[in-house]
Amino acid sequence: MSFPLHRPRRLRRSAAMRRLVAETRLHPAELILPAFIKEGAAEPVPIASMPGVVQHTADSLKAAAAEAAELGLGGIMLFGVPATRDAVGSAALDPDGVLNRAIRDVKAEVGDGLVVMSDLCLDEFTDHGHCGVLTAEGAVDNDATLEIYARMGVAQAEAGADVLGPSGMMDGQVRVIREALEGAGHHETAILAYAAKYSSAFYGPFRDAVDSQLTGDRKTYQMDAANRSEALLEVALDLEEGADMVMVKPAMSYLDIVRDVADMADVPVSAYQISGEYAMIEAAAAHGWIDRRASIVESVLSIRRAGAGSVLTYWAAELGRWMKEGSL
Ligand code: PBG
Repeated sequence: MSFPLHRPRRLRRSAAMRRLVAETRLHPAELILPAFIKEGAAEPVPIASMPGVVQHTADSLKAAAAEAAELGLGGIMLFGVPATRDAVGSAALDPDGVLNRAIRDVKAEVGDGLVVMSDLCLDEFTDHGHCGVLTAEGAVDNDATLEIYARMGVAQAEAGADVLGPSGMMDGQVRVIREALEGAGHHETAILAYAAKYSSAFYGPFRDAVDSQLTGDRKTYQMDAANRSEALLEVALDLEEGADMVMVKPAMSYLDIVRDVADMADVPVSAYQISGEYAMIEAAAAHGWIDRRASIVESVLSIRRAGAGSVLTYWAAELGRWMKEGSL
């Protein structure tokens, strides 16, 4: 025989054919938009290292949430940037603190039309920038932090959050938050555990996004990039502690972990395409070195293909618009 027996190219020959056989597709409901709100901002404040992303005002956040609902996105994940910070992150517990107020406002805006999620972590609220409170020696105090997380979780549930996203990587955090929620009657508030969260250089631009004061690093609580089975342990513990969903973060440098977790977890799995992943593509595209739109689509598709059921991405609304206009 003089011809190849198999010609996989037959199924690639037209856009229509490729569409027919695509194994992974993007859908707006699988996208979660992370959004920042800055206390006291009169105008949205651009984030220099994340072109196109802003620190919202109360009004611009409501508009972004309304658009996200309109586009049929899966959810919005809220981060607060408070005007004042202290050693224990008091503003996180204040029902009138920037994040709790934003949850209330966004919930009032979108009702049940969009899942409202909130970051449950102290780093935006502490003057030292760590995700927990510190001991006299300056170490992050796991168990003292847990007590604050529990109260923060109840405050966020009271404000109306549908889903809490504990992202501080303290041992036992899911359990204390779940217990506190149950104790306060918030049986229906779900927990999306940042189960496998790695200490990553790619969080860099996020520090700008929340005006972080951090000096040093988070290596005593976030995971080491070298480790794989430890991620499975973290996920197993969070599930045992009552997580309703789990997340892998960052996404693109950890696609093997996304696949591992998707294979072992019997709950929905999310992955967070973080600030540095966003910044890299935006920067290269701004130089004309890569095709912006194709790179965005490919990157998010790869995270879905790796096994994430949903993706947190700063491009969620833009992708949603492309899908809505039918150009994707
Ligand atoms: C902690 C938190 C961080 C991010 C989300 N939640 C920062 C960190 O752990 O250092 C990073 C998100 C991103 O980089 O896009 N509250």
